Amino acid sequence: MSRDQIAVIVLAAGMGTRMKSDLPKVLHRVAGRAMLDLVLDAAAQLKPARTVVVSGPGMDAIEALCTRHPLKPNVATQKERLGTAHAVRAAEKALGTFDGTVLVLFGDSPLIQADTLKRMAKSVKGGAPRSRRTPTLAFLGFRPDDPGSYGRFVIGEDGNVERIVEARDITPDMDVSNICNGGAMAADGRHLFKLLAQVKRANSQKEYYLTDLVAIAAKTGLATTIVECEVEEPLGVNSRFDLAVVEQEMQHRLRLAALTGGVTMLDPTTVYLSWDTKLGRDVIIEPHVVFGADVTVADNVRINGFCHLDGAEVGPGCIVGPFARLRPGAKLVANVHVGNYVEVKNAVLEDGVKANHLTYLGDARVGAATNVGAGTITCNYDGYGKFHTEIGANVFIGSDVALVAPVKVGDGAVIGAGSVVTKDVAADALAVTRAEQKEITGWAKRRRVSQAQKKKQKK
Ligand code: UD1
Ligand code: MG
Repeated sequence: MSRDQIAVIVLAAGMGTRMKSDLPKVLHRVAGRAMLDLVLDAAAQLKPARTVVVSGPGMDAIEALCTRHPLKPNVATQKERLGTAHAVRAAEKALGTFDGTVLVLFGDSPLIQADTLKRMAKSVKGGAPRSRRTPTLAFLGFRPDDPGSYGRFVIGEDGNVERIVEARDITPDMDVSNICNGGAMAADGRHLFKLLAQVKRANSQKEYYLTDLVAIAAKTGLATTIVECEVEEPLGVNSRFDLAVVEQEMQHRLRLAALTGGVTMLDPTTVYLSWDTKLGRDVIIEPHVVFGADVTVADNVRINGFCHLDGAEVGPGCIVGPFARLRPGAKLVANVHVGNYVEVKNAVLEDGVKANHLTYLGDARVGAATNVGAGTITCNYDGYGKFHTEIGANVFIGSDVALVAPVKVGDGAVIGAGSVVTKDVAADALAVTRAEQKEITGWAKRRRVSQAQKKKQKK
């Protein structure tokens, strides 16, 4: 095992009682991705040699997440939740002997950035150029306006970090700094577990505090350094309120990245992005647009206000909305116009298709340059199964047409307004299924006159 390798331990065993949820806390989502996934994503950028997630008993869903995540972390179980130091010790066996740099992260602090983790790893022995004074431990520090319940660093007269005191253990005589503990820690792997074995439960919580490592290390002449970061980065989630705050911060980051990448947003604060939303250049997004997971938008697309996109692919030059809904499997190939109150699900709309008003296209393919009239519905579901509708290129579908799947419409065909199409339509044919129009001369006038007379008689 090389000294410059990195191992990551993510603590995720907390109950999250204040979330009032059946879901383990770290599985709650931020920008559509579980917090634990986001922390593992950041860790992955450091290419760790080993990763261990510390989970609680019976948290099977955390194990399932770990098998899906590309880092493929090992899962260790902390049987009793006796504090953060106790949780790290629970990872010892799964980690094995490791003399590189160990990073300890919290699964409920999903805003942590890979660059900060790299800075932390570099600042301790193993990561840093070797010198006797190189610190053994690095803790994340930040300076919030209100230190709240965060632990605080105590710094000695010589400028060395002496210890961290938990907020609830601070007494008036203590000279604590205004730097708070952000939670994440980097440690020289040769010392970590030896130091952890010395942590006691002598505090108000009767817990094993990870933060006690600082004072224990200092006693044996091992130094701790503080790696400072922006105030948002260590934000942790303990309640639904915290979750909303973290969501806003994440949205801010995603919007900023989109703007920087060449997207115009008229009112970015009303656009909700997913962690994996991909937006091309010269995309224009009007207010009140929501992106669910797995949406790709190519260059030169306009998304008008009040649209909802989820699992959709929008090709170059398309115009979407206002008030359009693209559901999973919607693929607008290029230059497609999807207008107001149009829903597309599991359907491919080829180049230049127009479906501008009040339409449902589900389980379908629509050929290039076809015009879909207002109120067209692909009737894809019979109460039991789903069926496909195949519409050719250059087709003209009149308004208010029901296409009862499975059904095919050939290239160049025309479907008359109001038709219920249950049989395949040949290329270049006209299909109309509505009853023929009747006209009775003067009928309306006669009715008007007789109704007016009846009204008069009543008075
Ligand atoms: C911790 C720090 C505090 C710091 C703050 C930053 C300690 C003692 N205190 O406090 O200095 O300012 O984070 O957010 O470390 N966990 C387990 N098993 C346990 C206990 C906790 O896995 O037995 C996990 C939790 O799921 C969570 C993380 O460890 O992901 C932090 O635990 P938490 O109880 O939230 O610590 P804080 O009181 O916030
Ligand atoms: Mg916490």
